[in-house]
Amino acid sequence: MPDTLPDRLLVWYDRDARTLPWRGLTDPYAVWLSEVMLQQTTVAAVIPYFARFLARWPTVESLAAAPTDAVMAEWAGLGYYARARNLIACAKLVTQWRNGRFPEDEAGLRQLPGVGDYTAAAIAAIAFGQKAVVVDGNVERVMTRLHAVQEPLPKAKPRLKQLAAALTPDLRAGDYAQAVMDLGATICTPRKPACGICPWQEPCEGRRLGIAERLPAKLEK
Ligand code: ADE
Repeated sequence: MPDTLPDRLLVWYDRDARTLPWRGLTDPYAVWLSEVMLQQTTVAAVIPYFARFLARWPTVESLAAAPTDAVMAEWAGLGYYARARNLIACAKLVTQWRNGRFPEDEAGLRQLPGVGDYTAAAIAAIAFGQKAVVVDGNVERVMTRLHAVQEPLPKAKPRLKQLAAALTPDLRAGDYAQAVMDLGATICTPRKPACGICPWQEPCEGRRLGIAERLPAKLEK
């Protein structure tokens, strides 16, 4: 029987989480591509782009060899075009200087164009199984509610990262990271969270105190 919080979440993830095209993929190229696309774009919008990119350029070498115009045209509609330019620069760097291999830890990944703290942690966890702490807006909301953190964002960020780190398991860190994001996107939603079906409903302090939906707190104007 699972009893730790990560175990409970992973049981839910295996059974009920979203099936997304990048789920289960651990090829660093595919993980990197999906996470760069997901940086500022919703899951629903990313799905067809991810499929088209991967079909047309199945490896980092093939993307590095593609004409810039072709990549920019395929990116059209996703927005934030600096991401596409960084995508091309990163593919060339990894191909020409690293024999097509992505760095395997967060510090190395962060050196790549277009890869910030969030994306480096996501790739390290999902592609390389490292115990990296992945924190996005979904994870922050889940942590504030689970631990009833009443300090407003962004001041609470360091504390939320600590809380997220304390929960991250040694095994299946990549699945766990995606599970917390899915929990935030589908159950622990900003408004009207579905606490009744949440795998963390019993340990949730925000729910116990009846304040889950009001968290994370906003700064008074
Ligand atoms: N948001 C960004 N990356 C994600 C992922 N891998 N799974 C779910 N939501 C995400």
